[in-house]
Amino acid sequence: MPLLELTDVTVAYDQTPVLFGINMAVDKGEIACLLGRNGVGKTTLLRSVIGLNKVMSGGIVFDADEITKVPTYKRARYGISYIPQGREIIPYLSVLENLKLGFSASKRKLSKIPEEIFEFFPMLREHLNRQGGLLSGGQQQQLAIARGLLSNPQIMLLDEPTEGIQPSIVQEIETTLKRINREKGITILVVEQKIDFAKTLAQKFFMMEKGSIVAKGPTSELTTDIVHRYLAV
Ligand SMILES: Nc1ncnc2c1ncn2[C@@H]1O[C@H](COP(=O)(O)OP(=O)(O)OP(=O)(O)O)[C@@H](O)[C@H]1O
Ligand SMILES: [Mg+2]
Repeated sequence: MPLLELTDVTVAYDQTPVLFGINMAVDKGEIACLLGRNGVGKTTLLRSVIGLNKVMSGGIVFDADEITKVPTYKRARYGISYIPQGREIIPYLSVLENLKLGFSASKRKLSKIPEEIFEFFPMLREHLNRQGGLLSGGQQQQLAIARGLLSNPQIMLLDEPTEGIQPSIVQEIETTLKRINREKGITILVVEQKIDFAKTLAQKFFMMEKGSIVAKGPTSELTTDIVHRYLAV
């Protein structure tokens, strides 16, 4: 049974369609990646899943519930966590205050950051009282993932978590995402442009071009032919 399923989803900005009949399913417990060049609609697709873009036609089912018209804040309570492209942490709030924002999306009432957050992201403990904006790009990305985790999600939607981040931290993020998936059973759907990162992290891929899914399958079947056709410039 898929945890997240999109059926014939079409999305437009004003009157201009950008997603055309998207069909995709992400199973519980897996890591899936969404690939494609700039501007093909990857971010729009994730935003539709969290309800920030209205679906024109088609449907979205999450954990056996139809959520196509459910407002964004309620989707967060269903267990969908969205970590946007560019991270979007609040630069003038401390790391701790940024983390606490993650509580607000959750059903559970927490006042203290659970210890496991610092087990996944030891760096955050050392910087708790620093302004978020003073962290490096990679640290801000880790903060954003940690904040997403605090809403106790069933699925995490990550939009290009490695964009503009130094290689050593990319490696760290990959390892941590795998741990989060394995140890907490959280399903992950990640938008990526780095093909190697996607291949080692994810079991399944969806390739997009011009608002459509044009190829999908296990990442082991991501041939150089597919990569050249749909990713290389
Ligand atoms: N707010 C908006 N209003 C109008 N058009 C938009 C808006 N946001 C995106 N678009 C258009 O929708 C299409 C898909 O954009 P989207 O941001 O989803 O692509 P993407 O695959 O995430 O690109 P990137 O790899 O650069 O992040 C593009 O043609 C883009 O110009
Ligand atoms: Mg994008």
